[in-house]
Amino acid sequence: MKLGLVGTGWIVQRQLPQMSRRGIEVGAIAGTPRSAEKVDALANEYGVEGRYTDYNEMIAEADIDTVYVGVPNALHVAVTTAALEAGKNVICEKPMASNYRESKEVADLARSKGLYLWEAVSTIYLPNFAKLKELLPRVGDVKVVSVNFSQYSSRYDAFQRGEIQPAFDPAKAGGALMDLGLYNLHYILGLFGEPSAVRYQANVERGIDTSGIVTLDYDNFKAVSIAAKDCGAPLFCIIQGNKGYLRQDTSPNVCGPITLHMNDGSEETFDENGFTEFERVWDHEFASFKADVESGSTEHCYQLLEQSLLVSRIQTDARLTSGIRFPADEQ
Ligand SMILES: NC(=O)c1ccc[n+]([C@@H]2O[C@H](COP(=O)([O-])OP(=O)(O)OC[C@H]3O[C@@H](n4cnc5c(N)ncnc54)[C@H](OP(=O)(O)O)[C@@H]3O)[C@@H](O)[C@H]2O)c1
Repeated sequence: MKLGLVGTGWIVQRQLPQMSRRGIEVGAIAGTPRSAEKVDALANEYGVEGRYTDYNEMIAEADIDTVYVGVPNALHVAVTTAALEAGKNVICEKPMASNYRESKEVADLARSKGLYLWEAVSTIYLPNFAKLKELLPRVGDVKVVSVNFSQYSSRYDAFQRGEIQPAFDPAKAGGALMDLGLYNLHYILGLFGEPSAVRYQANVERGIDTSGIVTLDYDNFKAVSIAAKDCGAPLFCIIQGNKGYLRQDTSPNVCGPITLHMNDGSEETFDENGFTEFERVWDHEFASFKADVESGSTEHCYQLLEQSLLVSRIQTDARLTSGIRFPADEQ
């Protein structure tokens, strides 16, 4: 796997130092004319040959087989489409697109070309997530599921001063549901599938949800996703059943140690992720991307793509119940 990275911001700066340890080569980086110096600095620091200020040029010219999309949400589809059209596989940062229509378009394009398209969402690749699925029957009939991913964002300070960064910009498909809420939905839908009804109640400032609560009706049980970028809280994921409950004191992107509490007071703890440092949280997804390519089959990738499509559909339905609309919704 030889990557061309698009973006020079927070996530790209976190991923770059990890690539050589993962056995993944980075052949090129593309930024914008604004960030030309950053492109050069990152390329120099990590020994990357190709340097571009236009991702289309990188896709056309660089010696790469896979494009990693690390730009603001509203640009994901444009970069992904350009890469797929040029025959490159794509690792797209979460969320895959601004809405379900766009997600479906890129997924269909990848499948029609037989290319890999992965949504880089750590939760579903983590061993603890698989462990949760295995442990679920032990809590009996599920009654209530609650996930709280609230993290005060330093970008919220800037937002309040009127400096609107992409993560808080409706024009760039930002907001708490698209960012942190996406992990909550992957967690809940990955464990329980499609709900029968969904509703989003958001705190909206300057046209964007800075925090909010999604309620998901599963008929015989109920789930709630809390995501906030304007206030903090203890992080947790709790699945309550009539025989006991599963508890994680982390956000779902980390999907950390799991404690199974039974009604008789007994407790067991499980932790199969195999790391403690936060920077390792993405290792499992990259290992899985590599393994998919080495297997020569797109089957596993397309299974997860279906999961991403389901999440995108429910996320879009939820968001529209709150009245928050993005430019992509008007097309
Ligand atoms: N998986 C995770 O854990 C995780 C964590 C954080 C973020 N993310 C995702 O990663 C994405 C980026 O987030 P971030 O926090 O890294 O944002 P960020 O710090 O704002 O960085 C965005 C980058 O995109 C670049 N960019 C904008 N337009 C571009 C274009 N046309 N061509 C090339 N580069 C362009 C920007 O360059 P300029 O400075 O020149 O505009 C900047 O370097 C988001 O979709 C977010 O959801 C994922």
